[in-house]
Amino acid sequence: MQVSRAVAAVAGAAAVLCLFVLPADAETPSAKPSPVPITQTLGQLGDRAGIFVGTAVDMTALDNEPTYRARVASEFTSVTPENVMKWQQVGPARGVLDFAAADELVSFAQANHQRVRGHTLVWHNQLPSWLTSGVADGSITPDQLRDILRQHILDEVGHFKGKVAQWDVVNEALNEDGTFRSTIWLQQLGPGYIADAFTWAHQADPGAKLFYNDFNLESVGAKSDAALKLVQDLRSQGVHVDGIGIQGHLGAQFPAPGTIQENLKRMSDAGFLTEITEGDVRIVLPTDATNLEAQAEGYRVLLDACLLTRRCGGLTVWGFTGLHSWVPGVFNGQGAAGVLDANFNAKPAYNALRTDLVLAARSRDDD
Ligand code: G3I
Repeated sequence: MQVSRAVAAVAGAAAVLCLFVLPADAETPSAKPSPVPITQTLGQLGDRAGIFVGTAVDMTALDNEPTYRARVASEFTSVTPENVMKWQQVGPARGVLDFAAADELVSFAQANHQRVRGHTLVWHNQLPSWLTSGVADGSITPDQLRDILRQHILDEVGHFKGKVAQWDVVNEALNEDGTFRSTIWLQQLGPGYIADAFTWAHQADPGAKLFYNDFNLESVGAKSDAALKLVQDLRSQGVHVDGIGIQGHLGAQFPAPGTIQENLKRMSDAGFLTEITEGDVRIVLPTDATNLEAQAEGYRVLLDACLLTRRCGGLTVWGFTGLHSWVPGVFNGQGAAGVLDANFNAKPAYNALRTDLVLAARSRDDD
């Protein structure tokens, strides 16, 4: 598998030009009839290439927009709830659990034979106000907070036992320099909360793969060094942890991460699974041919690094259409981060992913 992926990725860039020059079904004298129709979806091509291709799902759009819903169902083999499995949503009041929206997504995924990635159990954002205000006013002590965290993880992972394949157990606990981010969890419970969270998640569903997830982990550097050390330390303590989620939030205005393949390889060589969990490439608006091509290159770099890495299981994009994206709300004047435009038309990024998946699938078929 690794050999064919490597061949595919190296060949990818070289072959791209041909495919752009030649229409997909054009027969060049030398090309073998292709068993992999270029018309297949990213998910189908991912299947043939040995990886999941997924998307974050906006449940409001899924419920109210048939085109969006149909495309989520047809294009992807994996889904991640963009917001509805976060604590703020599933624990709106103390002692109250609300998995309705998350259950709906899981049922949708089952109906469409899609994998579900759970996101996220322990994060410093999108926490319910009863929890943050209780800690702030001291009505929730550190010991009580630890019990509340334990119960939250047992409740949520237990509720989705056997239905959620992977969990982002802890999200964004590191600073750029590799030190621990000063969050409510670190402040109240100390760094041990991370090992506890993984232990409780594994207890609740021993079959689920457990990930540490963070942004700016794409390249070799202080933060990715710390993330690798974090999971290695957990394992050396006997704590069950399976992998590292590399979010993959990029900007087309910046160079694509040059050492991402080397980074994923060292994580794989160390025995850890990897996933690109939240890939997107935002653009400083307006879009033009140059920044759309730079965007395509960003997506290609994320995909190829995964295809090249034995233990990388999939590429999930954090939204796929310009119609629904977190980017404009956070990065002023930026957007168009998805592989499809606001009318669900393919952008160069979509074609780039498709091309490299076709090559990966073809070379795998040749094995
Ligand atoms: O649900 C409320 C709604 O009731 C209210 O009317 C509306 C207006 O303010 O806000 C809605 O909540 C929003 C929520 O998304 C659901 O749509 C929050 O304001 C908004 O801040 C929240 O944004 C999410 C963000 O995480 C929060 O930090 C984004 O959709 C989501 O894409 C983003 O995802 C994160 C990953 O979880 C972790 N990695 C980074 C990534 C991007 O920030």
